Amino acid sequence: MRLDKFFSEQKILSRKEVGEKLKRGLITVNGQVVKKGDIKIDEYKDQITLEGQLITYKKYTYILVNKPQGYVCSTDDPRDMIVTELLPPELQKLDLFPCGRLDKDTTGLVILTNDGISSHRNLSPKHHVAKKYAFETADPYSDKDIQAIQNGITLADGYTTKPCEIERHSQTTGYITLTEGKYHEIKRLFGARGNKIVGLNRVSFSEIVLGDLPLGQWRELTPSEVEVFTRE
Ligand code: URA
Repeated sequence: MRLDKFFSEQKILSRKEVGEKLKRGLITVNGQVVKKGDIKIDEYKDQITLEGQLITYKKYTYILVNKPQGYVCSTDDPRDMIVTELLPPELQKLDLFPCGRLDKDTTGLVILTNDGISSHRNLSPKHHVAKKYAFETADPYSDKDIQAIQNGITLADGYTTKPCEIERHSQTTGYITLTEGKYHEIKRLFGARGNKIVGLNRVSFSEIVLGDLPLGQWRELTPSEVEVFTRE
């Protein structure tokens, strides 16, 4: 890759800024000050520094946020706050987008990335990625409701949901794990049983868990979580 592309692709410097830094001798490749932006470097092997700081190459960024209510999973919205607004400016310029959507009033785990291929794969129905939610219903739900929802329900639009798993926690709370992501799916499943979801929080996505990350906060995925997210 060209040295100037190394900086511009990662949104560290524009090509023009690279030129200025090079002129001032502020960029080194393997310990040597370099002056030209068009030289070829190996972004994985060469040691590149900018103003004395080692810059390790990251093709893609993977962020986990704990979405509060009121934010929408979109990259642009004329009315509502969007999940990427929870990130600092240096991450906001990386063109990250949410992998899938949570409703505006749903809280919890959202992965933001600029890796379109892995994101698409994780959302594809044939990959059956499990997503687990803590839920609360307005009224107590019965064991019959659990059986019906777990087996799949034909919704008002004629779609029959895939089997899922429910773990009861109390008369009105529990965990539900889905391997698909239809619009308002959990709300519609309980709605079809005459009940109403009053609280929904996504706690895991595949083996990636929200843990105790506070609401509104973010963190980078760990290397092993990136492996989970990017595996084929
Ligand atoms: N199902 C819903 O109804 N809402 C969500 O946000 C996610 C799953």
